[in-house]
Amino acid sequence: MTQRTGSRIYLDHAATTPLDPTVFEVMRPYLWSEAGNPSSVHAAGRRAREAVDTAREQVASVLGCKPGEVIFTSGGTEADNLAVIGLALSEAGRGRHIVTTAIEHHAVLFAARSLRAHGFEVTELAVDQAGRVDPPDLEITVRPDTTLVSIGLANNEIGTIQDIPTLARIAHAAGARVHTDAVQAAGQLDINVDRLGVDLLSLSAHKLYGPKGVGALYVREGVNLERRAFGGAQERDRRAGTENVPGIVGLGEAVMRAEAERERRTAHMRSLSAALVERVTAGCPMVRVTGDPERRLPAFAPFAFADVDAESLLIRLDLEGIAVSTGAACTSGSLEPSHVIEALGLPERYRQGSLRCTVGRGTTLDEVSRAGEAIVGHVRMLRAIAAAPGVV
Ligand SMILES: Cc1ncc(COP(=O)(O)O)c(C=O)c1O
Repeated sequence: MTQRTGSRIYLDHAATTPLDPTVFEVMRPYLWSEAGNPSSVHAAGRRAREAVDTAREQVASVLGCKPGEVIFTSGGTEADNLAVIGLALSEAGRGRHIVTTAIEHHAVLFAARSLRAHGFEVTELAVDQAGRVDPPDLEITVRPDTTLVSIGLANNEIGTIQDIPTLARIAHAAGARVHTDAVQAAGQLDINVDRLGVDLLSLSAHKLYGPKGVGALYVREGVNLERRAFGGAQERDRRAGTENVPGIVGLGEAVMRAEAERERRTAHMRSLSAALVERVTAGCPMVRVTGDPERRLPAFAPFAFADVDAESLLIRLDLEGIAVSTGAACTSGSLEPSHVIEALGLPERYRQGSLRCTVGRGTTLDEVSRAGEAIVGHVRMLRAIAAAPGVV
């Protein structure tokens, strides 16, 4: 499968990945000939139900959970919202304190903050310069009234991986439930829920070469969520609405394939992101590689350039056919440094210059070499322009 259109180079796999043609082929009948509603009792409905059940088993086998513990959603955002708000409201009688981090995806952070209007207290843990949560910080933050700790397995802007098993042990010792957003980590890390020690985990298909608009939330047996959608009794009465059958079928296939090929894909991505980091850091003075140097997702080559406006850099690269990101796709367009970059506490002159490059399974060494050259060239050019305004 190619990730390119013409000579374009796509280095924005953390924003989304192209649909795997094999996944598309598995989805195809459910987009066309197999049009039954899984809630219908006739044969067409039963076939659709069977397809959804198969996908549920596929997701459960990768997560190491029971199929009944998987709720299909419209994506990572809905899974995060349902986990955070659903759990908080359901446990409100026991306590109204929630802990998350300053670098969570907005689907978690804004969901948590929305609870303040309902009398909840939300603590956002700080991170160090590499984006790590320090477990002792969590230890002194959790309290008897803490019902939920939500910490992403890996960050979507800098790729830093958190020590979820340790953090989960601390949260559980205090009697809190643990949610992790594994949307970026899936396909690159082990997402077995027992090894992670989590009660809730979010996934999204489109980061795994699956379709957009479908995801899943793992909910450990015995954990109750207050419903967010009202209507039918789908998903064991936990998420109303007719199932996105083709999307769910695509998610199941994409998750299975990602897990089966995880070692090979991540080895490839690790070597390419390392090559890009090496080329850019060798060619550019005053650049920092953001995120944890050891515990970072293999796909990630995240940079912060001093005295460079990352938006200008992104536009120049795009004109050359190279797609990268200045941070989370959902916040690009805003000229403010993202909340993640702010939380890292980088020196002022690096804050506007954050660039996220993320390679994928189809990225080639030639592509990262060309992208590295281009990044180095444009950074030099932008700095020269900034140093001599009016010249260009
Ligand atoms: C860490 C993380 N969580 C949640 C989401 C939202 O997922 P979706 O796009 O499926 O709504 C994203 C998407 O960028 C993400 O990176």
